[in-house]
Amino acid sequence: TNPVIDLAPGGAPTAEVAEIVRADRPPRDEQGLVIFFTGLSGSGKSTLAQALMDRLLEHGGRSLTSLDGDVVRRNLSAGLTFSKADRETNIRRIGWVAAEISRHGGVAVCSPIAPFDETRQQVRQYVADAGGAFFLVHVATPLEECERRDRKGLYAKARRGEIPGFTGISSPYEEPQDADVRVDTTGRTIDDALDDVLVALRGAGYLD
Ligand code: PPS
Repeated sequence: TNPVIDLAPGGAPTAEVAEIVRADRPPRDEQGLVIFFTGLSGSGKSTLAQALMDRLLEHGGRSLTSLDGDVVRRNLSAGLTFSKADRETNIRRIGWVAAEISRHGGVAVCSPIAPFDETRQQVRQYVADAGGAFFLVHVATPLEECERRDRKGLYAKARRGEIPGFTGISSPYEEPQDADVRVDTTGRTIDDALDDVLVALRGAGYLD
């Protein structure tokens, strides 16, 4: 039987209605979920995201999809540059796919740089519109450490002016103020850093 729903004057739902709507949603550990890592190149996003995927796979049960920055760039976003407009397109594509995955109860783990706050907010909105949950992980390893690691040699090239518009050097990275968890990987093992993410996910009710 459907509950009788009273709307308050003006059409805003009453607390009672809000309660019913919440009760109709799947519990958090069944709701579609987008876990979105953002951070500088070399901050450890992909490594952490992969470690999280491995851990979630051990848990089993949920359909899991990885949308890693580099992999997306070779496939879904092949041909896009690193201009502001193309980065926004790239992130919106990732967001759209991730939101669709969440619509069907799956878990999407995304790990692009996603340097712009406005585009991250759009992704958050796509996921909300699809009925999924959005969990933002800021991989906050400082620029000096990313540059010291320089795993791909890109920072050196960017400093020499060979890569124009390189994030953190000649293109901005807007630090999120709305992250669910912030992880600096400096001097830490992957397992140790991953624990911070797992604790936050559990704390928010997304993991048993
Ligand atoms: S973005 O800004 O979110 O669209 O970037 P993303 O799709 O995640 O791609 C980041 C990876 O592309 C390489 N790369 C660059 N990064 C930043 N700025 C410039 N100009 C650039 N050119 C190439 C770099 O290897 C990034 O890899 P990660 O995995 O982040 O280190």
